[in-house]
Amino acid sequence: MKIHAEDIKNSENKPVHIAIIMDGNGRWAKQRGLPRMMGHNEGVKTVKEIVTASGEAGIKYLTIYAFSKENWNRPKDEVNAIMSLLLKTTEKEISELHRNNIRVKVIGDKNDLPKGAWDVLEKGIKLTKNNTHMTLIIALSYGSRDEILRAVRSLAQDIKRGELNPDDINETLFESRLDTHNIPDPDLIIRTSGEYRISNYLLWQSAYAEYYFAPELWPDFHRQEYYRIIMEYAKRERRFGKTSEQVTA
Ligand code: IPE
Ligand code: IPE
Ligand code: MG
Repeated sequence: MKIHAEDIKNSENKPVHIAIIMDGNGRWAKQRGLPRMMGHNEGVKTVKEIVTASGEAGIKYLTIYAFSKENWNRPKDEVNAIMSLLLKTTEKEISELHRNNIRVKVIGDKNDLPKGAWDVLEKGIKLTKNNTHMTLIIALSYGSRDEILRAVRSLAQDIKRGELNPDDINETLFESRLDTHNIPDPDLIIRTSGEYRISNYLLWQSAYAEYYFAPELWPDFHRQEYYRIIMEYAKRERRFGKTSEQVTA
């Protein structure tokens, strides 16, 4: 049965924040005897479809893993080509995102990005910063361990300056130093391509996230499969350490 955006919009248990590990572009290309970059190009179409589908379904936060800290270790040609695809796509799509009232944010280590790249992203972030329909978070040169270490360093600096007492470090303060500050934790994390791992994604933030591993390669992943996963999520019971009886009471 076909699931419509409205079905999800009207569902009481829909996730507030969905985070996606978009995986399988390279294999999609390889299956067709094409260069890996063709898979990344095709993957952009899926990004557009899923961003639109999320907005229409009333999802408030969508985080997409576009490039990991570890992806810098790929062959130089691929790294350069992915970077220019990311920038070209951001430049091309930003006005439509803005028209659709979507706010864009970036998480990750911006110091790694080539000069000029951050300017393009920052322009988009500034343009869309007051938009309210949905927040699209792009994880770029993102590694969760790196993010956590940057947060720890920032707290350590405060202590060194005598501005912070170590006893006052709590979850709220720690979270305020993460790239994801002011973004609620993901409720649902989806990874495509049939790989069952986290690959350094949102380790702190996913403490109580629900996971779904989809077999489709990212370019083969479409709205209906996405909506089916969200509907399945809505049926799960999230207990946060409590008993089922407590949760249903
Ligand atoms: C995901 O697809 C996109 C990025 C990591 C940038 P991959 O490029 O990892 O595709 P596979 O896993 O090799 O198929
Ligand atoms: C994770 O995919 C990163 C992104 C989707 C951007 P990878 O393909 O890089 O992950 P591993 O190396 O297979 O774990
Ligand atoms: Mg991969």
